[in-house]
Amino acid sequence: MGKRSSIIKTLRDIAFDYSDAPVPDLAAMGRELGSALHARHDEVTQALGALRERRRGFERWMLAERGKPAASVLVMAWPPGYATPVHDHGGLWGLEATIAGALEVESFLKDGTAETLRSVGRTWLGPGDATWFEGVDDHAHRCRNLSRHDTALTLHVYGGDLAQYLAYEQPGPSGHWIARPRQSLIAGRLTA
Ligand SMILES: [Fe+2]
Repeated sequence: MGKRSSIIKTLRDIAFDYSDAPVPDLAAMGRELGSALHARHDEVTQALGALRERRRGFERWMLAERGKPAASVLVMAWPPGYATPVHDHGGLWGLEATIAGALEVESFLKDGTAETLRSVGRTWLGPGDATWFEGVDDHAHRCRNLSRHDTALTLHVYGGDLAQYLAYEQPGPSGHWIARPRQSLIAGRLTA
């Protein structure tokens, strides 16, 4: 029997396998990533637990990226209480799964001009839970670490390189939103 792959490699392989299809089965990808995160919890903690102790603010770590078919896999560290702005994903499809801790994800629908955004629901993700969105232009969301004390870790798979995206702010009570371009900064690379 061969040596079992590292958990990093396993997560990358699941993400890349499901990303091969023109329209990936994100529900199945989420189930398989969730099962691996549950079944190999100790290895996950060993491989990624240090990212919870750095206390350097919100960080994105690149786990793997591929050009064709395009996909990228990242791990993100969320300080206690940290919340993203409402943001889109440059039209890419995407999936996020909680590795450790608990997140709230509030989804929004943009209208054509992106001047209005409507909240369309919230979901809560514990360890191994996943949520996803298709590669459409009208989706945005806001994510928040529900813990006041612990850093959360999440795994993200996107259908390409999410170097740029739009963050949305609501400067006043008028319901009007302003979009601002943002760059995705990478803290470093994770290796298997
Ligand atoms: Fe996002």
